[in-house]
Amino acid sequence: MSRHGLPSDSNPFPFYKNSHFLVKFAASFLLFGIACRLLFSDSVMFSSSPVLTPPLPSSQPSSIALIPTEEEPEQAEKCDLFAGEWVPDPSGPNYTNRSCLHIQEHQNCMRNGRPDSGYLYWRWKPSGCDLPKFNPRKFLKLMRNKSLAFIGDSISRNHVQSLLCILSQVERAVEVYSDKEDKSKRWLFQSHNFTLSVIWAPFLIKADIFEDNNGVSSKETHLHLDKLDLKWAEQYDSFDYAVIAGGKWFLKTAVYLENDEVAGCHYCPGLNLTELGMDFAYRKALSLALDFASKHRAVMFLRTTTPDHFENGEWFSGGTCNRTVPFGEGEVDVGELDRAMRGIELEEFDKAAAAAAVVGSGENVGLKLLDTTRLSLLRPDGHPGAYMQFQPFAKDKDAKVQNDCLHWCLPGPIDSWNDLVMEMISNGGLYR
Ligand SMILES: *[C@@H]1O[C@H](CO)[C@@H](O)[C@H](O)[C@H]1NC(C)=O
Ligand SMILES: *[C@@H]1O[C@H](CO)[C@@H](O)[C@H](O)[C@H]1NC(C)=O
Ligand SMILES: *[C@@H]1O[C@H](CO)[C@@H](O)[C@H](O)[C@H]1NC(C)=O
Ligand SMILES: *[C@@H]1O[C@H](CO)[C@@H](O)[C@H](O)[C@H]1NC(C)=O
Ligand SMILES: *[C@@H]1O[C@H](CO)[C@@H](O)[C@H](O)[C@H]1NC(C)=O
Ligand SMILES: *[C@@H]1O[C@H](CO)[C@@H](O)[C@H](O)[C@H]1NC(C)=O
Repeated sequence: MSRHGLPSDSNPFPFYKNSHFLVKFAASFLLFGIACRLLFSDSVMFSSSPVLTPPLPSSQPSSIALIPTEEEPEQAEKCDLFAGEWVPDPSGPNYTNRSCLHIQEHQNCMRNGRPDSGYLYWRWKPSGCDLPKFNPRKFLKLMRNKSLAFIGDSISRNHVQSLLCILSQVERAVEVYSDKEDKSKRWLFQSHNFTLSVIWAPFLIKADIFEDNNGVSSKETHLHLDKLDLKWAEQYDSFDYAVIAGGKWFLKTAVYLENDEVAGCHYCPGLNLTELGMDFAYRKALSLALDFASKHRAVMFLRTTTPDHFENGEWFSGGTCNRTVPFGEGEVDVGELDRAMRGIELEEFDKAAAAAAVVGSGENVGLKLLDTTRLSLLRPDGHPGAYMQFQPFAKDKDAKVQNDCLHWCLPGPIDSWNDLVMEMISNGGLYR
């Protein structure tokens, strides 16, 4: 356990276990059967390597068609917060490794000796409007008597730590709950009666995991595709806002159950079960979570998949990420896996929002899309890389060390995710 009270994972990429198989398997599900010729190319997956192909189409929401027609003209005028570019920001972050005590060791790039600091001086600029910087005082005022929960995996933890760092510049967070493993936690900002939680639920749905503390499995994970993870669902009524995200844990080998009966699996050679593909489970999980949220009071933000930036290899084969400036438009293309995952996220979000709008008054029902994939893709410079370890090159400047090109340095680009959350909470009506 780290001295900051959050687990310091021995394996920073627990969901990438067996990953060369998973890589190939992800490829096969993505390419629907024509994958054989790609199975021998590890380089196709997890990469968002720079390419010279044209830029992605802007992340313009694909759902407009599903929104009742009378809303269209108004929607069209709204600013898309998620299409834009990173621009220089001399003012820099609002906290440092000294002023924030919530930074996990693996993400404490300053303390670990990362030599460059240019990555701290950028802000996200949407094309059609300005995104104000997070204002911790105003945020705490807005959140008086309220409760906000982050639900997901280690990236959700990274996200909540960023928020804790910014808020703790104004008021100290008192930890009021922690589970045995330090994975789910709750804090109270006493003078604002604001409760902030992080809930470890990497699959969002019920998962029977047969792993010891070192992540060694005795048996495949069993995922119940028709049951939510009660760890968050049971508490959901106590939240006013929730930021949820699924993700790369779905790449893991798993047996899928429906109605408590085995329906198939994902990557389970030797078990003689039908391969359903992780997309099958990811869809069901998101659909279940969003449907549940649309029937409850809290506003739910669905955060889209977070891209990694391993280059010259993958996480398990010496991949690194030592860039020091953001990509510009057109300098990078989203990897196949993230493209597929975000596709599922948008489709399930649109379905849930449309269904809820039919039942409700047609007004937004409290489902919001926090579409951070594209803006995060432009920040290859924001990961710990080798500086996930303390002073990795102190003894040997050519040391070969594990790189983390998935989580984000704190401070770092993930802070901008909170600028977006704050803007969507305070001016929600202006955005989709
Ligand atoms: C951080 O934000 C608070 C509140 O807005 C402000 O008082 C403080 O000066 C800022 N600190 C830095 C280092 O920018
Ligand atoms: C913060 O980082 C600096 C290097 O940028 C380091 O000298 C200092 O010890 C760190 N402080 C803490 C509290 O980790
Ligand atoms: C917060 O709750 C307290 C006690 O219930 C109440 O007196 C106060 O008016 C509330 N404040 C807001 C902003 O809702
Ligand atoms: C704190 O907020 C909760 C609602 O989240 C409210 O029920 C409670 O009365 C508040 N407590 C105080 C002391 O304001
Ligand atoms: C695999 O399952 C099928 C039907 O469920 C069964 O007919 C077959 O014998 C099984 N194969 C092995 C090797 O167990
Ligand atoms: C970045 O890493 C690559 C190897 O992946 C290395 O060849 C290159 O020299 C590094 N650049 C810097 C600035 O460290």
